Amino acid sequence: MTSPSPVTADARPAFDVHRAREDFPALHQLVHGKPLVYLDSAATSLKPRAVIDAVEDVYARDCANIHRAVHLLSQRATARYEEARDKVRAFLNAKSNAEVIFTRGTTEAINLVAQSFARGLLREGDEVLVTELEHHSNIVPWQIVCQQTGAKLVVTPMTDRGEVLREAFEDKLSDRTKIVALAHVSNALGTVLPVRELSELAHARGAAVLLDGAQAVSHVEVDVRALDCDFYAFSGHKLYGPTGIGVLYGKERLLEQMPPYQGGGDMIRSVTFEETIYNDLPYKFEAGTPPIASAIGLGAAIDYYRGFDQAAVHAHERAVLQYATNALESIPGVRLIGTAPGKVAALSFLMDAAHPHDVGTIVDSEGVAIRTGHHCAQPVMEHFGVAATARASLGLYNTTDDIDALVRSLYKVEELFG
Ligand code: ALA
Repeated sequence: MTSPSPVTADARPAFDVHRAREDFPALHQLVHGKPLVYLDSAATSLKPRAVIDAVEDVYARDCANIHRAVHLLSQRATARYEEARDKVRAFLNAKSNAEVIFTRGTTEAINLVAQSFARGLLREGDEVLVTELEHHSNIVPWQIVCQQTGAKLVVTPMTDRGEVLREAFEDKLSDRTKIVALAHVSNALGTVLPVRELSELAHARGAAVLLDGAQAVSHVEVDVRALDCDFYAFSGHKLYGPTGIGVLYGKERLLEQMPPYQGGGDMIRSVTFEETIYNDLPYKFEAGTPPIASAIGLGAAIDYYRGFDQAAVHAHERAVLQYATNALESIPGVRLIGTAPGKVAALSFLMDAAHPHDVGTIVDSEGVAIRTGHHCAQPVMEHFGVAATARASLGLYNTTDDIDALVRSLYKVEELFG
């Protein structure tokens, strides 16, 4: 008999990690003959049964294109797709569904803003301000648009703990800054940036603000109105949803002024060879058949995630991270990379004994999945003078037992290479 889960004051069950683990089929398998320990959720999170079922159900029952046909299957698929948009709106606390654009992921969302918003705005000598800890997807789209317009990419440096400090940011901000693009949470280091404060400073200088929320949505509270950002991008697959679906939130006033990013079906109201009238928001930015099942799966992921008390989930993850930090710090020859106070969910580290790729291979042979490499953040690696790190990253399903397994596997590395 299972014991009843503890109940909080508001009668919501407190977060029960062992019960939650039952929801993730992929967790319950052997890898190289050992129980899987999944510590790579910053790359992609595992999917709960509710998401897998939702996607399967679309293909098994409501398999039709959306916004295009009067037949029942199409009506059902359309309704489910638009319900998913509504779930995203509520999750982000956006004002209206017109502000929620489905994309293929964070990368496409940022490219959309770079090409549709920034390209028309930037003039020679203008500046786009990023930080040193950005993922490549929040660097390269800005470099491209800077090359196209003659604008300049300016970088706010981080500290050796991996923090972005207000003073350093203010120092780089100027009247020439037209766009500020910031990670909400660093994928390589786990740093949580003070984005509300930095956003305010940027707005005071008249710059628009885009936040890359890929690593934030599953670990910190996101409220786009409280953050007062102009754009917010995230990917479904890091929020327990399917791959191939992401979201761009944008303030309606800005999205209205922006030209389409891609042309094609669904983004038009009427087409002649002489003229095309574009569709209303958000469809103006959703050319072609979208990833329908993935969007619906994202809706299911949001329902799943919001079914927990989010503060309790975040507290659980913080406790596991603290346990992991202490455990790794106690292993001789292990060095943590990125030690910003208040960081979340990711632990990058180096071992004196072995190259990160060897670390990754040995721990994999013990059933422990971590990521090794530059984490698509080469400037971060450059800052720390390394080519790569090993990175363990958390999802809501991780426990201190997982960290114990990681530690045991790191001692194995030490045995083999030390
Ligand atoms: N950006 C993802 C990561 O950090 C893939 O692993």
